[in-house]
Amino acid sequence: MEPTKEISTLLYQIGGLKMVDFLKLLIEKYPEQVTFSSSFSYEDQVVTHEILSNQLPIKIFTLDTGRLFPETYSVWSSTNAMYNTGVKAYYPNQELLHDFVSSKGPNSFYESVDNRKQCCFIRKVEPLKRALAGNAIWITGLRAEHSPDRQDLPMIEWDESNNIIKYHPILHWSTAEVKQYISDHHIPYNPLHDKGFVSIGCAPCTRAIRPGEDFRAGRWWWEDADKKECGLHIHEPAASGQG
Ligand code: ADX
Ligand code: SF4
Repeated sequence: MEPTKEISTLLYQIGGLKMVDFLKLLIEKYPEQVTFSSSFSYEDQVVTHEILSNQLPIKIFTLDTGRLFPETYSVWSSTNAMYNTGVKAYYPNQELLHDFVSSKGPNSFYESVDNRKQCCFIRKVEPLKRALAGNAIWITGLRAEHSPDRQDLPMIEWDESNNIIKYHPILHWSTAEVKQYISDHHIPYNPLHDKGFVSIGCAPCTRAIRPGEDFRAGRWWWEDADKKECGLHIHEPAASGQG
């Protein structure tokens, strides 16, 4: 059940706190139950830096779909090296993936929205549930600028499908602020961001965008705009319960 009172308290406590101080507050309230999901995007690298340069006991994980860009694996590797850490990976369930690819083929996501959602469910949504199990707080690198669906999000919200409180520390940062932070702290980042890629997911489903195009235009570009979520972040009223 949604912990409405706790969410209002956290929203109040976030007040004028710096990200690092609010992260410390969360760790104190929920020891060993705070986790951060990274796709090694610009945004995620900012949050990773806050966590690791301050040595905060927050578990960082990534969902390795098996279809990520080579550049993404390189950032993962440089991040491990820079912070002397090992970002934990969650992988798709082997049997589910095997059955799906055997029956539909390796690139069936181009053939229908249902296939695409099934692929996202197997490669992301189901592994995410395993990654979040036992945690109370899920930190993300979501930014409002990325999609109209994300404009009205609060920084702290309840995730009904995963039964967890989500915290989006850089929700209201601009692209310029993110870039500046990355450059100021010499943080490794995905070189695709310099080639027109804004929101980066799996390689077969992400392309660069042209100047002026919507930030999400490069994700699942062959689908209608209203279907462009993979199920990691479901926001009412768009929630369909699908992966
Ligand atoms: S998605 O829903 O379209 O795939 P998006 O790429 O915008 O998400 O990323 C938003 C946030 O979701 C990231 O900041 C990160 O917290 C989480 N996320 C997305 N993809 C992954 C992934 N492969 N592994 C871990 N976290 C991810
Ligand atoms: Fe599959 Fe594409 Fe979704 Fe990645 S983004 S899980 S390849 S459909």
